[in-house]
Amino acid sequence: MFIWQYFRFYMQTYSQIPKIIAPTQYYNQGFILDKIILDTPSPEICASKIFEASGAKFDADVAKDLWQKIMQHKWVLSERLNRDVGFKIACTDFIENIGTDEELSTHNQEKLLVQMGARTISRDIWDTISDTQPPKKLIHKRIILPLVEGALTEKYGVIPPKTIIFFGPPGTGKTHFVKAMAGRLAWWFIEIAPSMLMVDGVDKIGAHLRAIMEKTRSLDEAIIFIDEFEEFAGSRDSANRIDRSITNEFLKQVPLIKSQPNKVLLVCATNYIRQLDTALLRPGRFDCIIPVGTLDDDGRKTILEYYLSMMNCGVVDVDHIVSLTPKFTPADIEYLFQIVAQYAFEEECESGANTPVTTEMIAEKIASFRPSLTEAMIAEFREDVAIYSRV
Ligand SMILES: Nc1ncnc2c1ncn2[C@@H]1O[C@H](COP(=O)(O)OP(=O)(O)O)[C@@H](O)[C@H]1O
Ligand SMILES: [Mg+2]
Repeated sequence: MFIWQYFRFYMQTYSQIPKIIAPTQYYNQGFILDKIILDTPSPEICASKIFEASGAKFDADVAKDLWQKIMQHKWVLSERLNRDVGFKIACTDFIENIGTDEELSTHNQEKLLVQMGARTISRDIWDTISDTQPPKKLIHKRIILPLVEGALTEKYGVIPPKTIIFFGPPGTGKTHFVKAMAGRLAWWFIEIAPSMLMVDGVDKIGAHLRAIMEKTRSLDEAIIFIDEFEEFAGSRDSANRIDRSITNEFLKQVPLIKSQPNKVLLVCATNYIRQLDTALLRPGRFDCIIPVGTLDDDGRKTILEYYLSMMNCGVVDVDHIVSLTPKFTPADIEYLFQIVAQYAFEEECESGANTPVTTEMIAEKIASFRPSLTEAMIAEFREDVAIYSRV
């Protein structure tokens, strides 16, 4: 927000640029136009990048044309300001001040989305998860494809899922997958935090839940995410009066979401599926109950490579590191690399010499690192997979 205000102030105070640049000026830049057209990504990527930058949603074909106009606008702004203006600024400025009503007519529901704290998520999250990392393939087949291939689902009578649970030990990537889905679909990501439900005390939790779920009925293309789901929907047998009323509210709301025609996914995540009320887990309530568990060698390798790519890296034998990290979750790997990065950083601060990360440096940190998964947790997860998963 601050950068945006600064940008406007700069534009209005120091430059003589009119706020809206006449469209003809764009088309005089023939050489740059050719380059932009050549560099234009696929229409689907254009739509997801524009959505990510501005929160404005466009059909892929509209987004492709808009992309070119935004890139020209970015170029013109950068020339005028004599510095490289980022895509996000150019995109927001174009949409707010230059695009015509017709182009922007698909941009709606703003108020409600802002109220609910809706966010856009980068498609990169989906793209950087290895295709072999479970449950990516499953999510692609069972959730993404049915939601994007409307005509084919009708042809075959496939009903796209609307309510999903992810379960598995902490740090295994459940939240990461939900965000990845939102980015892949270019849908809104709305997280319902316990604090949103508890603003008026515990007695009002059920009422707030009902009100939020009612709002979701007028949304389209949104993922409603509830993390730590067992906190809300614990078993009624062991729960107190308040918890029971929330679980009962869920039991009413889940079928309502399923009967809505709009594109809204309710995704819940839990580390403790055993604590959920069994009535919620019966068929007919949640369409998919998906395990997110341990990583195999290939899954760890991709995540290791992802974090290594962000470091000052020397010679690293990734396969060796893979062999040293059998029980590591994605969260463990992320944390391990923070420790290594901090170590290398401190070394250079002290010695003044470049300190690239090496296999030995990482192995040394692994030796004193305790991964989060234990044999007992893995055994318990396997039992849960056999009992609860439904895909
Ligand atoms: N495939 C992945 N690639 C890179 N980082 C990942 C991946 N999966 C998870 N992470 C990272 O690991 C951390 C823990 O993941 P998270 O989704 O929060 O786990 P959970 O919700 O199961 O507790 C997050 O910071 C996330 O960014
Ligand atoms: Mg989580």
